[in-house]
Amino acid sequence: MLRALYTISTMVTLESIRTPIAADLEAFGEFLEGQFQADGHLMNQMLSHVMATRGKGVRPMIVMLCAALCSAANKRQWVEGERNCSKRTYLAAMMVEMLHTASLIHDDIIDNADSRRGKPSVNALWQSRNAVLVGDYILAKAMSAGMQSAQYDLVSHIIGAVTTLCEGEVLQGQHAREVDTTRQDYLEIIYKKTASLLSISASAGAVSVMASREDVSQMRRFGEALGMAFQIQDDILDYSRSAQTGKPANNDLREGKITLPLIEVLEQCDEAERAEILRRLKMCATDEESVDYIQNIVEATGGAAMAARTMQRYVDRAVAILSQYEDSPYRSALVNLCAYVVERNK
Ligand code: FPP
Ligand code: MG
Repeated sequence: MLRALYTISTMVTLESIRTPIAADLEAFGEFLEGQFQADGHLMNQMLSHVMATRGKGVRPMIVMLCAALCSAANKRQWVEGERNCSKRTYLAAMMVEMLHTASLIHDDIIDNADSRRGKPSVNALWQSRNAVLVGDYILAKAMSAGMQSAQYDLVSHIIGAVTTLCEGEVLQGQHAREVDTTRQDYLEIIYKKTASLLSISASAGAVSVMASREDVSQMRRFGEALGMAFQIQDDILDYSRSAQTGKPANNDLREGKITLPLIEVLEQCDEAERAEILRRLKMCATDEESVDYIQNIVEATGGAAMAARTMQRYVDRAVAILSQYEDSPYRSALVNLCAYVVERNK
């Protein structure tokens, strides 16, 4: 059953995943754009830039597809090609997307990153002091929109993600260039910085359609497994010279981050190799030769392939949860999203 679910989904595109909620995503785009407006020329300029350089919108897709999946389970009528999501689901999607957007603006300040998705970052264009404020603004705007609509259960469901994201970012900073970052540390970091928000996105979709507690908890587990896989793939792509992420390869090494492909190698190699890798890691911020040295060792030892096996276990867990739901275009889209996470190169 699981295999069957999964094999229908080879070589998927985001377009195919969006198909069952295409009309909703269009309406959602307008709704979201309405939130990116403010008083003041500079604030508006920054918000326009942020909106224009928006990402793939994976989180709103998860919110909507999980809402649709749980509604299908509740035997509500969902009509393909029409707008099916309620205002509450749009609101949930908007809050997670804006929270995510704010977190990346702050992350670029922390990482001193010049670019995001191949375009200049907000801090590169308007300096960190303005970027931190636009991040705060977006976060505040999202939460106040939720409060003003009196959707308190959704706001309280989503707001907890902010503290987890902050914990993850602090933990990651603490471990940067630390020679003792273990697999356990890594898994905790990626849960907090990425999987927690995908988990909240999936379960917020369920909450938005008043799904049962059991469905909310299943969606939370689904989003967590998908999110773990998503971040592991991100970390694998960082070691790929042919990926199209909009970031230079080996950015993580330059930022001193020990991620799964390298952890897999460190777990296999002997003491002397380990000492040399860790010595080089400390120099990666300024020494390209050390970056190449670690990249070559990860390539030669198959670090990315080993990390991909760990990622696959998370994807299998996510698909297994979906297999408990009735077949529907939404379930197929979510299964395809699982396949997309594994196959993507950007
Ligand atoms: C990207 O990591 C960063 C995150 C997923 C989380 C960032 C969270 C915060 C800055 C906490 C503050 C949160 C809010 C809501 C204001 P990365 O640097 O590994 O990825 P990248 O390569 O895409 O930059
Ligand atoms: Mg970063």
